[in-house]
Order: sequence, then structure tokens, then C-alpha cells
Amino acid sequence: MLQQTQLAGSFTLPGTAMSVNRMGYGAMQLAGRDGDKLVWGPPRDREEAIAVLQEAVASGVNHIDTSDYYGPHVTNQLIKQALHPYPDGLVIVTKVGSRRGEDGSWIPAFSREDLVAAIHDNLRNLEVDALDVVNLRSMFSVHGPAEGSMEEQITVLAELQRKGLIRHIGLSNVTPAQLAEARRIVAIVCVQNHYNLVHRADDGLIDDLARDGIAYVPFFPLGGFTPLQSAELSDIAASLGATPMQIALAWLLQRSPNILLIPGTSSRKHLRENLQAAQLRIPSEVLANLNPIGKPEKEF
Ligand SMILES: NC(=O)c1ccc[n+]([C@@H]2O[C@H](COP(=O)([O-])OP(=O)(O)OC[C@H]3O[C@@H](n4cnc5c(N)ncnc54)[C@H](OP(=O)(O)O)[C@@H]3O)[C@@H](O)[C@H]2O)c1
Repeated sequence: MLQQTQLAGSFTLPGTAMSVNRMGYGAMQLAGRDGDKLVWGPPRDREEAIAVLQEAVASGVNHIDTSDYYGPHVTNQLIKQALHPYPDGLVIVTKVGSRRGEDGSWIPAFSREDLVAAIHDNLRNLEVDALDVVNLRSMFSVHGPAEGSMEEQITVLAELQRKGLIRHIGLSNVTPAQLAEARRIVAIVCVQNHYNLVHRADDGLIDDLARDGIAYVPFFPLGGFTPLQSAELSDIAASLGATPMQIALAWLLQRSPNILLIPGTSSRKHLRENLQAAQLRIPSEVLANLNPIGKPEKEF
């Protein structure tokens, strides 16, 4: 019998044997907070954090997004504690390109030494011999994609891939030009950028990636640290007997078949609510009312 999470369908990362359910889980929210320092230190409730990870996988999630700079190290250590030895078919996607300052800031870590060290940190903290997928996170601007060559950094990751430390490579927070540059050097299996119902700058990129069979993984699918709030969204959700967060996720699933979801939460209550979105189908006339919320570049 299909698990609820599998109702969202699956997607095979291009050129790989990795097939993941489109409904995944993003682990960043599991790390703690220390005043203004977000994603910092131990979780508010360690037992709950472990339970969230275990319930996600038990419910059919087989794509978990993480990074060793969440915490730092905390999120990966929680994943290891909750799930190691990892079940067959679980794909853990991590990212490199940043490190954390003592003040909680997000600092570019783009040198060869930084990247090699980050790969080894991830391998150690996740306790694996090879990382399934590593996203290179562009840091020309911490706030959004900004132009700048990443040839040197992609070349380093490609070397580590040849050494067997990385299975597949993706990109995060990138422009179409950076994607094209990277694809001239190595196969790219996924792009992880900021996108959701109200933040639609990547509409064109998503369609281009869909044509090439590359996964698009929106971060902040629910709006991030300040979840989406919209009277229209709430009204539409109520009319469909769902919550606004479920509609935001179902909308992404229907937006394009190459979109993979990694909603983040630190609670099992929200996890259950989010996973239920895998079985929602928004009727086309309702989609037409949802689309204008984000001033889309494209209607669908
Ligand atoms: N590549 C990058 O630069 C980048 C940047 C940011 C994030 N990411 C990745 O993307 C993943 C997703 O992003 P995100 O977790 O920051 O943002 P998100 O999924 O858009 O939203 C998470 C926020 O929504 C709340 N939430 C979750 N489910 C909810 C529900 N059903 N009802 C009400 N509130 C709910 C969470 O609080 P609770 O904990 O209370 O549920 C949390 O505050 C992260 O886990 C991370 O792996 C990548």
C-alpha cells in the first residue's frame, strides 16, 4: 500500500539511480536559536527533534536536506543520531560554501581548503563514506542569487566526486548564468533556490530545469522564518478544508513535476500537517485564484 507521502509522486535525479519522493523534509529548523543567532546551537527539544526525523522517514520521506553549517554541526549530528544506520534509499542532500561566525553570521567559505574541510565535516558528522548530493551554495550575496564565477569551486567539488567522496553535485542560490557555467564542468542534478507561492523570481528557471530533467528544490517553501501570511491564501485553504501551509505545499507540487519539497519544521504536529499536503489536489479554478498572490512571472 502506498504511504501518504508517496502520493506526491517521485522524481529520479538525472543520470542517477536516486529516486526520491517529491515530499521531503528540510532539517535546518532542528537546530536551536540563541537570541539573534538563528539556526544556532542545540535544539529547543532534542527528543522532539529526533522524533521528527524518525517519523518523517517512517512516513515515507526519503529526501532530507541539511548542512553542516546548521548549528553548526548540530543538524547533521541529530540526523546521525536519529537515523544511522541509514535505511536503503534515503538520500541526504547537504551543502557547502558557507561557515558560521561566532556572532551567528553566515560567512562565505569558498576557498579550496574551506570546501575540502566542509566535505570532511559533513562525512564525519553524518558518518558516511560518501555524500549522496552536495549543493554548492553561492555566497556572492547571502540574501539571494548574485553573479560571480564559481568555476574554481565547482572544479574542486568535481575532483572530490572523482575521489568518491561525493556522489552527485547540485547548486544553491544561483543565477541561470552560474548554472550554465557549472554544467559545462560537471553534471548538475538539482538547484535549490528561494521560491514559494509569493516569491516567484525563478518561474522561468524552473521551466528550463524541468525541460532538462533537473530537480528544482525551493527553500523557504512555507516562507521560511516568517511563514507565509495572506488573507486570500487562508480563505482558499478554508474553502478546501486544508491549512494555508498545506495549500502552499500542494501549490508547489502542482507548479512543476521537477519540484521537490523540503518543508522544515521542529514539531511532529507540523510535520504531519505538511506531509498530508502530498494527497491534496488543488482544482484548476482555485489555482487561478492562488496564482496572483505572488505576482507571478508565469501563470499555470
Ligand atoms: N540553500 C539555502 O540557502 C537554504 C536556505 C534556507 C533553508 N534551506 C533549506 O530549506 C529547508 C526549508 O526551509 P525552512 O525550514 O527554513 O523554511 P520553511 O519550510 O519555509 O518554513 C519553516 C517555518 O515554518 C514553520 N512551519 C512549518 N510547518 C508549519 C505548519 N504546518 N504550520 C505552521 N508553521 C509551520 C516552522 O516552524 P516550526 O518549527 O514551529 O514548525 C518554521 O518556522 C530548510 O530546512 C533547509 O534545509 C536552504
